[in-house]
Amino acid sequence: MFRSATTRKRRDFLRTGIVAAAGSMLGLKVTKGGVGAPAIKSKTLRPVAISSGNGLAATEKAMEIVFNGGDCLDAAVAGVKIQEDDPEDTSVGYGGLPNERGVVQLDASVMHGPTHRAGAVGALENIRYASEVAKIIMERTKRVFLVGKGALEFARMYGFKEENLLTEQARSLWQYWIENRSKFDDYMTPTESLDDIPEQLRYFIDTGGTINLNVLDTHGNLGGCTTTSGLAFKIPGRIGDSPIIGAGLYVDNEFGAAGSTGLGEVNIQTCASFLVVEEMGRGKTPTDACMAVCQRIVERTKVGYLWRDGRPAFNVNFYAINKRGEFGCASILSGSQYAVHDEDGARHMDAAYLYERG
Ligand code: GLY
Repeated sequence: MFRSATTRKRRDFLRTGIVAAAGSMLGLKVTKGGVGAPAIKSKTLRPVAISSGNGLAATEKAMEIVFNGGDCLDAAVAGVKIQEDDPEDTSVGYGGLPNERGVVQLDASVMHGPTHRAGAVGALENIRYASEVAKIIMERTKRVFLVGKGALEFARMYGFKEENLLTEQARSLWQYWIENRSKFDDYMTPTESLDDIPEQLRYFIDTGGTINLNVLDTHGNLGGCTTTSGLAFKIPGRIGDSPIIGAGLYVDNEFGAAGSTGLGEVNIQTCASFLVVEEMGRGKTPTDACMAVCQRIVERTKVGYLWRDGRPAFNVNFYAINKRGEFGCASILSGSQYAVHDEDGARHMDAAYLYERG
């Protein structure tokens, strides 16, 4: 097939590792929902980053690292840290919504395709970079999953700074929840109508929050990371799917990478991200694999989370890439978007879905 001189030149840059030029192209503006970043044209190397809708900047950061020859997992963690730092994202890291006692407890996992190793952390308090703690567990120990006090002590040992993660915004949303959750408790209920739910809470209820980011790098390796403050106002100690390898994240360097956001319990009960990757291994496209697992979850969910007519009253979203750099996303309910950054630049796209919301 004919390839232009420009295309050949760009591919050669990637192959020889002289990719600073490509990296600097990432300085180009990426607009919400639009294309603005680099167009690396290559048929043999198709690096791509795919993320939940809150991860557009994260995919941009990840691809900057990838285009400079970096590793898939280094790229994924550097990307999600942008959301862990963002006080406006009430589903991740600093600014995440707390548990029912007002304490922010974070969950995260990483998985590295080339070594098939994983790290995870659960119910971590006072440390904003749960993703990085998970990565250090993977890199520096023979273990996979640390939780609670032990995870905090581990993070301290590796020099992580402790801080109060509860922002004023998250505290006031928690207070709102406490005052509105029941008519039979000690608190006056200031809000009578559900229409009055603060926008950030409505967003959280609708989308579930969390960030998952999966990366295929220029070496053809896959890595992924999922990080979250978990279900808002959860029972203290509740751990969702995000730090559970196979549920909220799974990577197989032969087949693909997948991760999830949304209601974690149903993902845990179906080993959902593992199943998405397995479906890709059996030949399904990433979107079809994500749809098949959404369908499986709906079929298996018999108790709780259902409307009277049997329709799901919850949502999960899956984000997947295969070894060839094809990507896809599907949700149980309509209305979700995801972020992707590939040779056509960074953009938001609509997820495939099973049911119309509402
Ligand atoms: N999927 C995030 C959670 O359920 O905690």
